[in-house]
Amino acid sequence: MNDKITILRGQNITKKYKSNGRKVQALGGLDFSLQQGEILGIVGESGSGKSTLLKMICGMEKPDEGQLFHENEEYTGAHIGKTGGFLQMVFQDAYGSFDPRMTMKQSLLEIQHVTMDEILDIIKKVGLEPELLERKPRQLSGGQCQRMSIARALLSHVDILLCDEITSALDVTTQAQVVKLLLELRREEGLSLVFVSHDLALVSQLCDRVMVLKDGVCVEAGDTKTVITQPKNAYTKLLLENVITVSA
Ligand SMILES: Nc1ncnc2c1ncn2[C@@H]1O[C@H](COP(=O)(O)OP(=O)(O)OP(=O)(O)O)[C@@H](O)[C@H]1O
Ligand SMILES: [Mg+2]
Repeated sequence: MNDKITILRGQNITKKYKSNGRKVQALGGLDFSLQQGEILGIVGESGSGKSTLLKMICGMEKPDEGQLFHENEEYTGAHIGKTGGFLQMVFQDAYGSFDPRMTMKQSLLEIQHVTMDEILDIIKKVGLEPELLERKPRQLSGGQCQRMSIARALLSHVDILLCDEITSALDVTTQAQVVKLLLELRREEGLSLVFVSHDLALVSQLCDRVMVLKDGVCVEAGDTKTVITQPKNAYTKLLLENVITVSA
């Protein structure tokens, strides 16, 4: 009755970068899938390929090998641009993702076919006061600005949000508010998310499934609770142990 739809899929995603004459394998033939309404967590140490994966998914850069599918239809970066997009990236640096000279209202009105009524509706949904639309990015708090960037993504009517460390610059209370908002949007709008984070506590709270990356390959994946409470892979165990050591 309620069969899950695979909204996004990647097959053999491979990316090498050249650095000082050496080739760095950022992604080594990665397979992944995202179901509609699912929150997929991506974890792994710095340099493991998390941001590269998001760049491949949103078409900012092209993989050397492999294919990406949106609802079973293969797509490329160019394709995303043309269709107006089924996904949006939300960045860690929310301030930097807006034009500093423009008010929020001006920035949001740049979205194609958007109306002021829609903006006001979404602003309410992300828990912001309409007065904030008159402000420029630097006149907002980090959490308010991050919510504006989520609002911008929603105004583009996307089905999928790609979040790269979006809460790491926020204080704990604001982090919790953003997480609550994402969970509400998933429940009410059926939004699907790929959520990259170093914060394993946050990932275990938010994500249905998690994929652990190391040197551009997936070393372990599965239901979040199982991966976090019964990790099979030595590297996953190490990541979890490090969290405990740091917070002890
Ligand atoms: N434009 C680039 N040129 C050269 N090497 C790159 C480039 N972008 C990424 N890399 C390399 O690819 C690897 C994966 O980088 P990536 O940014 O995906 O890591 P990450 O998991 O997001 O790390 P972090 O947690 O620090 O954000 C790293 O070794 C990185 O140095
Ligand atoms: Mg990164």
